[in-house]
Amino acid sequence: MKAYQIQAGAGIAGLERVERQSEDPGASEIRVRVDAAALNHRDLSFARGQFYSRPGYPIIPLVDGYGEVIAVGEAVTRFKAGDRVITSYYPRWIDGALSPSKTAVSFGAQFDGTLAEEIVASEEAFVLAPRSLDAITAATLPCAGVTAWNALFVAGAVKPGGSVLLLGTGGVSLWALQLARAAGVFTIVTSSQDEKLERAHLLGASATINYRTTPEWENEVLRLTEGAGVDVVVEVGGEGTLARSLKAAGPSGTIVVIGRVSGGGGVSIEPGALIGGAKRLVGITAGSRAMLEQLVRFVDVNKIHPAVDKVFPFGEAPSAYEYLAGGRHFGKVVIDMRA
Ligand SMILES: NC(=O)c1ccc[n+]([C@@H]2O[C@H](COP(=O)([O-])OP(=O)(O)OC[C@H]3O[C@@H](n4cnc5c(N)ncnc54)[C@H](OP(=O)(O)O)[C@@H]3O)[C@@H](O)[C@H]2O)c1
Repeated sequence: MKAYQIQAGAGIAGLERVERQSEDPGASEIRVRVDAAALNHRDLSFARGQFYSRPGYPIIPLVDGYGEVIAVGEAVTRFKAGDRVITSYYPRWIDGALSPSKTAVSFGAQFDGTLAEEIVASEEAFVLAPRSLDAITAATLPCAGVTAWNALFVAGAVKPGGSVLLLGTGGVSLWALQLARAAGVFTIVTSSQDEKLERAHLLGASATINYRTTPEWENEVLRLTEGAGVDVVVEVGGEGTLARSLKAAGPSGTIVVIGRVSGGGGVSIEPGALIGGAKRLVGITAGSRAMLEQLVRFVDVNKIHPAVDKVFPFGEAPSAYEYLAGGRHFGKVVIDMRA
């Protein structure tokens, strides 16, 4: 079967097209024909050597995948041939609170991922795909989708009628926009580009701010919320945004710390910035399989079609990486394995 492999830190140029032997599934494993695989910022981090992995070990990259079950081991109970499935980010995190062992391994980092014609893994590492989505859109749930779900409804516990601030228009933020809108939440989206903000409005953003032309965007968030601040910040920015996000959150607000697209360096935070407003600073990492299953149901019920910016054929996977690294995307970048 055809696949790409890469070593952590090899850079995008280190993506190598290879032929791998097709594997038979073990007793508790399923074999899936991968139809689509989506890219995430973490896959760039992996290529750049900024993501934990075993050194000197080539791996099939990517965690996001959609496909059809083509063979099952004799002890498999959750799936049958013909089922449409998506990957679950942490195969060992089924439900409940996370623990180091539950989040120790994920596809496309510590073991082979989805940028291949086929994948063989434990049946525990998959869930049934949303019935309402096609291969390309369904492939975007396992990382960005479940992270947005966790940020809004688990860590952030936002309620209908509440408010959320979404930084930038990358995969996680636009997933969060579409979920929050469906849940009746007031959404403020920031971006470096007005054209992307117009597209965010079309996706249902309640208000938008250009963070380049309005560098003190936290004041604009306060103005838009009549001084109250937002209930939840989906904090994907890191070093360059965290201090402002703290100010943009209202009393009892939650800043869900997810990423570091603006840098991963240290940030100086005064204790009073949290104490005075009784604000919460919470880190999250993707989500459990149970969260992914909740997301699948929510997507089907609310007919959510995740924003996909561009689809690349399998043979142009390195171009898909370059495109994501260039930051021109609005939402998800997906690789169509059938093209
Ligand atoms: N903790 C977790 O479990 C988890 C899960 C998924 C992702 N992440 C992390 O979360 C971050 C986002 O991931 P992603 O996949 O959504 O990335 P992505 O699709 O590559 O999104 C990047 C976007 O971030 C925006 N951005 C860049 N600098 C910014 C700034 N200074 N202020 C506000 N927005 C800025 C840009 O939006 P505009 O072009 O609109 O300006 C850019 O398009 C990454 O650091 C990723 O590693 C963490």
